[in-house]
Amino acid sequence: MAGIIVETPRLQMMQLNSNAEGSVDLDMFHNVWRDKEATQWSLRGPCENKTASQAWMAGVVPSTPGERSDKRVCCAVLLRQNRPGPDVAGHRSVEDGSESIGILTLLPSEPIEEGSLGSSLTNGTNRVIGLELGYLFLPSAWGKGFATESIRAFLEHHGSERRKSDPQTKIQIQANVHPDNIGSLRVLHKLGFSTLETIVGEDEVFIGGANRNKSVVKLWKAL
Ligand SMILES: CC(C)(COP(=O)(O)OP(=O)(O)OC[C@H]1O[C@@H](n2cnc3c(N)ncnc32)[C@H](O)[C@@H]1OP(=O)(O)O)[C@@H](O)C(=O)NCCC(=O)NCCS
Repeated sequence: MAGIIVETPRLQMMQLNSNAEGSVDLDMFHNVWRDKEATQWSLRGPCENKTASQAWMAGVVPSTPGERSDKRVCCAVLLRQNRPGPDVAGHRSVEDGSESIGILTLLPSEPIEEGSLGSSLTNGTNRVIGLELGYLFLPSAWGKGFATESIRAFLEHHGSERRKSDPQTKIQIQANVHPDNIGSLRVLHKLGFSTLETIVGEDEVFIGGANRNKSVVKLWKAL
């Protein structure tokens, strides 16, 4: 069952835990992932129907009900406009998934080696884990600061939950962006991410509405 985990003045982030057929979680996910423009920088492209979204979503929600949700986190971003006041406990019911304007994910990833970072994340004794950030928003929501606002709150929430349960572990948030995706790079720079490296691919792929080299800018930030 989806629950609101964090709010900002304009937005609510609702954790999605299940890709079950008929669930609000799946509807919220599909509402964004079916959109051609929202998914234009994904090699997957849009999910053509709910069955395709259900299969794709299986890779981002906790794999078993018992799995700790911090291993894989998937949130829908909702507008608070026209919605009743704060209810961070997540008791309010959401009737369908049409309210979602964006999806945020954190997925396990290999940590970047300390030597490549140019700054020290640990004192050599801490455990380090890597989490890869993903995000996409419906075009109607672009250009209003929603990505920056929601990702900042999402990461702050995640960081504070992790510090409470596991203060010794350091977290690297990683992001992989195509170099031509200027808006996405701008969001990450506003959030304090640093560029680790740019890998220029030789293969060509159709991404961002055009044929482009399969290149990637790798960025990271300590949480
Ligand atoms: C990239 C995306 C998440 C940005 O969402 P958003 O809510 O519009 O982002 P914000 O408003 O918080 O910030 C966008 C910033 O990029 C800037 N920007 C956007 N497009 C730009 C462009 N083509 N050239 C220069 N700057 C651009 C905006 O001006 C803004 O910067 P500012 O605050 O300094 O003015 C959204 O466009 C999206 O979902 N795109 C498709 C999916 C995607 O690319 N996901 C990321 C994959 S790595």
